[in-house]
Amino acid sequence: MTDKKTLLRSLSGEALDTPPVWLMRQAGRYLPEYRETRAEAGDFLSLCYNSDLAAEVTLQPIRRYGFDAAIMFADILLLPDALGADVWFVTGEGPRLSTITDAGGLAKMKGKDDIHDHMAPIYETLRILTRELPKETTLIGFAGAPWTVATYMIAGRGTPDQAPAHKLRQSDPATFDALMDLLTESTIEYLSMQVQAGAEVIKIFDSWAGSLKGDAFTKYALEPAKRIITELKRRHPGIPVIAFPREAGDAYVGFAKAVGADCLAIDTKVDVTWAATHLQPDSCVQGNLDPKHMITGGQALVDETRRIVDAFKGGPHIFNLGHGITPEADPDNVHLLLETIRG
Ligand code: CP3
Repeated sequence: MTDKKTLLRSLSGEALDTPPVWLMRQAGRYLPEYRETRAEAGDFLSLCYNSDLAAEVTLQPIRRYGFDAAIMFADILLLPDALGADVWFVTGEGPRLSTITDAGGLAKMKGKDDIHDHMAPIYETLRILTRELPKETTLIGFAGAPWTVATYMIAGRGTPDQAPAHKLRQSDPATFDALMDLLTESTIEYLSMQVQAGAEVIKIFDSWAGSLKGDAFTKYALEPAKRIITELKRRHPGIPVIAFPREAGDAYVGFAKAVGADCLAIDTKVDVTWAATHLQPDSCVQGNLDPKHMITGGQALVDETRRIVDAFKGGPHIFNLGHGITPEADPDNVHLLLETIRG
């Protein structure tokens, strides 16, 4: 027997009979208690920067479901905010930002070491959570990967194909590379402070990695992840890292080893049998249930959950969805999911 937390055991390479489980966006609008706290905070960003309320919404799904991990409540777009971009959220539409289209726009941003006053409430959220979480629950900190964050800073919003960012990297590579460098370096500082404040695991979200191909994937998804993880582990030896180069396809193969990640999160499109053969020998895997099952539930949810658990039972696995749980999800289906996994 061991006292080590289940999630940390999987991350260190153990194959467990019952995989640990948490869900991307587990604190969110599908929960009535989240909607209540969010209304109290006013808007989404005010909730992120209110340490007491952010810790409260982080804890809500832990109380309700007893997940094995809690991910601090924040957003990947707080970093552009800290660097001096304008960031706001339009209800029902998503994020909006001031745009960076040339060297002049980039020159207005702050430096990598100038973010900590702005991020102080986030570090405080983590410190509260280290005290309030059950002792068996692992605390996850996170950031967006430079490419994904850059796509929002360049376009000023979410885009279906990341075209404005692709355009800039081709038309003005010097400005684009300088923005990527600033994001890589400030992400290292931000994540390093998260670890100091109590994060036990770090996850890096590269939600738009799938639109990078070939050399561009290597240069803008793989290399920044490697730089961030190498420096983070130099400063904090042993800190486990989950990498999520979403929709990387064949480029998932070898990614965890190349960047030094302990776990590779996989999206809904990845076949689990293929992943067990080609990805799991290199690292722990996390994923990949389609979030739509959390809306529809029933036998399909049970069957698909069992299929994923069975496919990965020969190696280290953290159960999760392939993308965030949506506002339309039925909270009862999360109970069904947990019963299916834990018996
Ligand atoms: O997972 C968690 O529970 C932790 C908190 C978390 C949020 N966003 C809260 C959030 C995390 C880890 C994120 C990551 C994030 N944010 C990503 C990467 C993962 C992914 O989904 O691909 C991205 C691309 C963002 C940027 C972002 N934030 C978008 C595009 C949106 C709007 C879309 C939406 O779902 O509303 C957000 C808003 C957001 N971030 C919400 C939450 C709970 C909804 C805000 C609300 O309450 O209205």
